[in-house]
Amino acid sequence: MTERKATLNLDGKEFNLTVMSPVAGPDVLDIRKLYDEADVFTFDPGFTSTASCKSSITFIDGDKGELLYRGYPIEQLAKESSHLETCYLLLYGELPTAAQLADFTNRVTKHTMVHEQMHNFFRGFRRDAHPMATMVGVVGAMSAFYHDSLDINDPWQREVSAIRMIAKLPTIAAMAYKYSVGQPFVYPKNSLSYAGNFLRMCFAVPAEEYEVNPILEKAMDRIMMLHADHEQNASTSTVRLAGSSGANPFACIAAGIACLWGPAHGGANQACLEMLKEIGTVDRIPEYIAKAKDKNSGFRLMGFGHRVYKNFDPRATVMKESADEVLELLGVHDNPLLQVAKELERIALSDEYFISKKLYPNVDFYSGIILEAMGFPTSMFTPIFAISRTVGWISQWKEMIAENGKIGRPRQLYVGPARRDYIDLNHR
Ligand code: CMC
Repeated sequence: MTERKATLNLDGKEFNLTVMSPVAGPDVLDIRKLYDEADVFTFDPGFTSTASCKSSITFIDGDKGELLYRGYPIEQLAKESSHLETCYLLLYGELPTAAQLADFTNRVTKHTMVHEQMHNFFRGFRRDAHPMATMVGVVGAMSAFYHDSLDINDPWQREVSAIRMIAKLPTIAAMAYKYSVGQPFVYPKNSLSYAGNFLRMCFAVPAEEYEVNPILEKAMDRIMMLHADHEQNASTSTVRLAGSSGANPFACIAAGIACLWGPAHGGANQACLEMLKEIGTVDRIPEYIAKAKDKNSGFRLMGFGHRVYKNFDPRATVMKESADEVLELLGVHDNPLLQVAKELERIALSDEYFISKKLYPNVDFYSGIILEAMGFPTSMFTPIFAISRTVGWISQWKEMIAENGKIGRPRQLYVGPARRDYIDLNHR
């Protein structure tokens, strides 16, 4: 990294700040010594201008609409690669050789079953529990089942926990779904692909044969790959922050899942589909566009806008293609939901409010449409995002542990009462 200097002038004193130059993206001011030297904090709620770590995993250029995993553009990976190969790339930094990919696939496949006692654990949840609620609990509980991969200081145990989570998250999500619809759990089948196996665990029933449709399998694989990592987003930052205290990997990923659930983040795919259903018919779209523009309404068009992408979301471009393929296959042409989605997209892309604020359909706008067409209930959309993002969370967690960093501990701008004396109960 080349070094430049910036100077902060505060109360007549000068403080030199190192400017760090990344491989790509804006330069970064190093303020680590600022408090020690200048006795001031910086204020940046929402981390809009703060780099919380160094990372060599994923890069986003929001203006160009570019997303790179370890340097490789997402469009190329979506066309040429698979989710498991992308997992290898994210975890280990390079594309695997054929032998490495076969070995990795084998290791993941051999870990897809969950501890049998976990079945009982699932049965403790209410049937109508949201699958994300179940997943937060069950993934957190993995630390109670897999004691031999909890030592974060042992690289072998870190590796085993990583493989376990990549392998078992689809099984856990599918079990959460099966439990919620009152059907028996379907055990994983090792002859199937990662995506195909997940579809089968969700949709097969013991009474009937289940054939994985290759187009749906490919679409599911793409959904997983496109969501695999996204640099320091809210859930990834949550995983890193939880991990910075030395918490075990299962606990950290459970924290990430909890954060992902929110409608401003991974929960947007469910919220978006529910919004499309609420709009219902094309003639009601203007009413919702007006609501989205009205600051007092508190309403936002779900599936639109992104903190980082200010031009277009490259994942959405690939996802839109997939949506067309899946809908064609399933013969969904005159679905009212799709008509509402298409018209909403058209209006929002030509409306001055959305253009000026650079609000484009994001990945969740299209992923929800595909998942709905595949037969998933909206409550499963965010769990599928969680399965996909697991590799990103783990890769970032492993990178953080390897760096041996400090515990994450933000400062604050205190605006509460100044020091005051306790008042006795009788005198209040
Ligand atoms: N509908 C209407 N107005 C919006 C929307 C929207 N979806 N998103 C942002 N705006 C407006 C917002 O009111 C603000 O206006 P003003 O400048 O007049 O105050 C301006 O655009 C900037 O918004 P912001 O909230 O400051 O932007 P942000 O970077 O903090 O938020 C976001 C990004 C994704 C949380 C937000 O765009 C949003 O809530 N979108 C809907 C939820 C959604 O689809 N989230 C999924 C993101 S992609 C999946 C993932 O990576 O998690």
